[in-house]
Amino acid sequence: MSHLIAPSILSADFANIQRDVEMINKSEADWFHVDVMDGMFVPNISFGFPVIKAIKKHAIKPLDVHLMIVDPDRYLQTFKDAGADILTVHYEACPHLHRTIQAIKALGMKAGVSINPHTSVNLLIDIISDIDLVLIMSVNPGFGGQKFIENTYHKIAMLREIIRTTKSKALIEIDGGVDLNNYAKLIDTGANVLVAGNTVFSSPNPIQTISDLKKI
Ligand code: DX5
Ligand code: ZN
Repeated sequence: MSHLIAPSILSADFANIQRDVEMINKSEADWFHVDVMDGMFVPNISFGFPVIKAIKKHAIKPLDVHLMIVDPDRYLQTFKDAGADILTVHYEACPHLHRTIQAIKALGMKAGVSINPHTSVNLLIDIISDIDLVLIMSVNPGFGGQKFIENTYHKIAMLREIIRTTKSKALIEIDGGVDLNNYAKLIDTGANVLVAGNTVFSSPNPIQTISDLKKI
């Protein structure tokens, strides 16, 4: 499978959200990455259901929704109704992760688990066969435009080995600080999906930058 690119809407121009969604529709991007922050799990608040619904209204590609919120179980149905196709929760925010994953899947969404930079991929061994995606945070979650953490390569390699030995079908997604200098090494190390916010939206030609990130 060739790798997927998921531009992060967090870096879009919210006064021109339809224009930016249509740009991604037209581009070679594969998914919309949608970052939801609650000001509790992370020290920032992004946006909620009305904005996700507005994106969904124009998007012709799947919505990859990344929940950086405490107690996500309260809102799984509401995220489904707002248009989420893939729903990713944080390992650190879910005391009953297996139950949460089953609930996401029962609602007809793909289920992902995200881990913060300090969380070991080894903690996923007992859930890896149940999930569609692992999102490795390559910055501390909360803000776009941060510097990539180099230890991420080591985590990708270890997770790739866990996926191989367990015969899991989970995709490896990398989120934070992805740019044109590191994307190829991330793919080589075993990543399947790359999120890019700042790299895409601060580019003078976002469509071309997305196309560059798709090159192998
Ligand atoms: C950070 C978010 C990321 C962010 C990535 O908490 O999860 O998705 O938008 O932004 P860049 O690509 O700018 O680091
Ligand atoms: Zn994200």
